Amino acid sequence: MSLLSILSSSFLLLLLSVSRGQRSSCDLCDLHMSCDCSRQGFSTVPMITQQAITLDLSFNVIAEVTEDDLRDHTPLRVLHFRGNRIEVVSCQAFTTLERLEVLDLSQNRLSTLNSTWFIGLGSLHTLNLLDNPYRVLGDLPLLQGVSRLRRLGIGGAALQELRRGDLEGVTHLEELTLNANNLQRYEPGSLAYIWPLGRVLVNLRGPFLTQLDLAASLLWDVSYPETQLVLSDLILTTSQSVQPFSQTTLRRVSNGSVLGQYHLVGTSTCTQFSSGATGERRSIKGNFSTDRSLSFSNVSLSDEAIISFLQVTTRAPLTFVSVDDVTMIGQGSWERANLTDHQSMDEFLVRDGKLLDTFQFSSLVQLGFLLVYPRKVSVIGCKVFALPCLTSRLMVNVEFLDLSDNLMTDMALQEALCGTDWANIPTLPDLRVLNVSGNPLKSLSVLVGLVSKLSKLTHLDVSHTGYSSMPASCSWPSTLRHLNLSWAKLTHTGPCLPVSLEVLDLSHNDLQNLVLVLPKLTELHLSGNKLLGLPAGWRFPNLHTLTIQYNTLNIFSGSDLWAYKRLHKLEAAHNKFVCSCEFVSLLQALARGAGGGGAGKGDLRLSDGVESYVCDSPLHLQGQQVRTVSLGLADCQLVLFVALVCGAVLVAVVGLAVLLGRLHAFWYIKMMWAWLRAKRSSASRRRRRLEEGGAAEPLFRYDAFVSYSERDARWVEDFLVPELEEPGAEHLTPLSLCLHKRDFLPGRFVVDNIMSAMETSRRTIFVLSEHFVSSDWCRHELHFSHLRLSAGRAEDDVLVLLEPLRRDDIPKRFCRLRRLLDSNTYLEWPPDDEQRTDFWRKLHRAVGRGEE
Ligand SMILES: *[C@@H]1O[C@H](CO)[C@@H](O)[C@H](O)[C@H]1NC(C)=O
Ligand SMILES: *[C@@H]1O[C@H](CO)[C@@H](O)[C@H](O)[C@H]1NC(C)=O
Ligand SMILES: *[C@@H]1O[C@H](CO)[C@@H](O)[C@H](O)[C@H]1NC(C)=O
Ligand SMILES: *[C@@H]1O[C@H](CO)[C@@H](O)[C@H](O)[C@H]1NC(C)=O
Ligand SMILES: *[C@@H]1O[C@H](CO)[C@@H](O)[C@H](O)[C@H]1NC(C)=O
Ligand SMILES: *[C@@H]1O[C@H](CO)[C@@H](O)[C@H](O)[C@H]1NC(C)=O
Ligand SMILES: *[C@@H]1O[C@H](CO)[C@@H](O)[C@H](O)[C@H]1NC(C)=O
Repeated sequence: MSLLSILSSSFLLLLLSVSRGQRSSCDLCDLHMSCDCSRQGFSTVPMITQQAITLDLSFNVIAEVTEDDLRDHTPLRVLHFRGNRIEVVSCQAFTTLERLEVLDLSQNRLSTLNSTWFIGLGSLHTLNLLDNPYRVLGDLPLLQGVSRLRRLGIGGAALQELRRGDLEGVTHLEELTLNANNLQRYEPGSLAYIWPLGRVLVNLRGPFLTQLDLAASLLWDVSYPETQLVLSDLILTTSQSVQPFSQTTLRRVSNGSVLGQYHLVGTSTCTQFSSGATGERRSIKGNFSTDRSLSFSNVSLSDEAIISFLQVTTRAPLTFVSVDDVTMIGQGSWERANLTDHQSMDEFLVRDGKLLDTFQFSSLVQLGFLLVYPRKVSVIGCKVFALPCLTSRLMVNVEFLDLSDNLMTDMALQEALCGTDWANIPTLPDLRVLNVSGNPLKSLSVLVGLVSKLSKLTHLDVSHTGYSSMPASCSWPSTLRHLNLSWAKLTHTGPCLPVSLEVLDLSHNDLQNLVLVLPKLTELHLSGNKLLGLPAGWRFPNLHTLTIQYNTLNIFSGSDLWAYKRLHKLEAAHNKFVCSCEFVSLLQALARGAGGGGAGKGDLRLSDGVESYVCDSPLHLQGQQVRTVSLGLADCQLVLFVALVCGAVLVAVVGLAVLLGRLHAFWYIKMMWAWLRAKRSSASRRRRRLEEGGAAEPLFRYDAFVSYSERDARWVEDFLVPELEEPGAEHLTPLSLCLHKRDFLPGRFVVDNIMSAMETSRRTIFVLSEHFVSSDWCRHELHFSHLRLSAGRAEDDVLVLLEPLRRDDIPKRFCRLRRLLDSNTYLEWPPDDEQRTDFWRKLHRAVGRGEE
């Protein structure tokens, strides 16, 4: 085969491949080969580099994944197809993706699932098939061979049926998400194979409303002691609706090794449990694994349902109950459940609760049977505006109380912590952590007065409050170690803060300086204030973490930093840094991990990343990363630089002076100056004369002023003067000439004389010769004549060339004369006598008044 045919056939191949793959392409990949091609409107899988490791195609309009789309993408680890319109996936679409770990096909239009898709996905650990319109999980078993799977999402609004074997082969899940809001058939045991199981999130709205037995058997299958159960979208209004919990809560004391014998295990543990005496409560608790937890999210609860729930879960070993996004339909009168036993309840959390009937809601005072047990109670974002002292006194075991993001005022807090009236009765005796963050609190001294009685308090979070000032002195519990005063409105700090503190958060206040000595402090957070410099290091000898971002720091030096003896984490980005030489080199040294300072400082790190440190000034560095700044001599060796610059300026000035001297600039300036002076004095003379009422002088006294060199005096006196003043020929009128020798007023300044001579003469005759050129005064006169010209008198000068004077004979600096010779006509003194008559006639005419 000839070379040509090889070339042409390969060209053809190229053409073919181009025309076959009319796919759009996406090159939005970063350095780590993570390609974010989401929301680009692709209708097919676009062409992407084969090195891609992460590929995000979410929220496009892709309808089909074909066999070839991803064939060559073997390195792919993460693949997102969420929110497309995929209806068809080819059997072989993912076969080559042996390294794929994450596959997200949620929110598409897959109406059938096919097990062939997942063959070969040996590395897959996360698979999301949620919210597609399939009604069953496809051909059985769907996920055979995906042995590494740890996170699975299945189901959707269309899912109707779960069958035994659907998820065969799936075990050891960390998380199972199941959307079964509309599930209608559940074959018991369908989910029972999945064990161990870390966390189950199930939406079961429909079954809880209509098919309680289905809900019960599904819950039964996923209820293991170590499994966290999260139930969403439930509407629990009747006592019947909570019945599915009766058996599951029992099962939660068993473990997975006894599958299939639910009842047996349930009963035996129940017996075992109920035999425990009340006094052993703590030790029983200690025996359970940590996660006997039940969570609800997006639920509506009526009083009846809650009472029923308390009843069916009595004595159940639930240690953690949380309710997120809850709507309380009732009034909180749950005392009918006062005979139930919830000793094991360790932690209770309500977040984002709504009361449909806020003002009818009871004070929970009757709920002693519930409140007495938990160690941790959180009521977050529930618009709580009051907590009666009687209620909080019931919480005798509470060690952790979180009332954040509510509506508690100073007064409400006083009541809740039994401030004024109940001052002597111990309240919340074991409290260690109090969180009242995000409440409209105003007075720090009220708070201090209240918490001073909490003798075990170690953590206090009063962030996001309205505190604006600090009392002069405060008595805090001596145990207090963590204090969070961030996002308040403090303008100053003072001796109020206790020396026992180890962690102090004062970020996002209005502080301008910090006058504190806290010897035990290890963490100090000061971001978002108005501090101008680092606080003095000696005040915090044990500090190891300091955050001070978003302030107005200009600079800090090595010695500022080394004053903190133990500091090893610093976050100071987003300040108004002045990138001085010292600062830049300090920061670059810190970035290299060199520390730059004395011994043992090498472990100080900029934990917010040196890339986020940006110069604010000088102007030419504004916005540039400190890391990339390289400063020159000018910034780093100022004295040397100034010395150099001064030297250079001096040299330049001297050079300029020499140059100007050579160009006779001084001479010109001198002349200009003299002329201006003379002009002024002549003008004032004339004015004076006019004012004195003197008759206006005739405009010109002379016909011509003769400018000539002293050396040409003989020619002027012997030839010029006689010829012009007493012409031989009759028809020539005698002219009057002004000669400096004869007509200048003695005693006047020469320049004045020249000036007035020129002003009072109609013309100026320049007698040009070598001598003229070399005579200073002549040059002056030439110069003046020009100034006069430019001052409005347009008479031509008359040039008489006494000897042949070529342009090139005149030194360059007499450019004016050169120009005159170029542009004006001139008369040349003829060497032979015959032509002289003609010369005189011409000269006479040039100078004369034109009346011939
Ligand atoms: C799965 O795909 C294979 C191959 O295309 C096909 O034979 C089979 O019928 C499909 N199964 C289902 C449930 O669609
Ligand atoms: C909460 O549940 C209701 C039905 O009980 C449902 O309509 C709503 O979409 C759910 N909200 C969320 C955020 O899931
Ligand atoms: C829990 O499971 C282990 C094996 O995993 C078994 O030995 C033990 O007896 C089980 N305990 C209960 C209470 O069933
Ligand atoms: C809890 O465990 C301890 C040993 O870890 C054991 O002595 C005690 O009997 C157990 N309590 C119960 C109620 O099982
Ligand atoms: C439980 O509540 C009922 C009222 O609902 C009350 O009559 C009864 O005395 C209470 N029992 C206890 C032990 O508090
Ligand atoms: C206090 O509550 C806020 C808001 O809920 C939370 O961000 C913060 O972490 C809590 N503080 C403590 C110490 O738990
Ligand atoms: C202080 O509270 C704020 C806001 O709740 C939080 O972001 C911050 O992490 C807390 N500080 C510490 C040191 O826990």
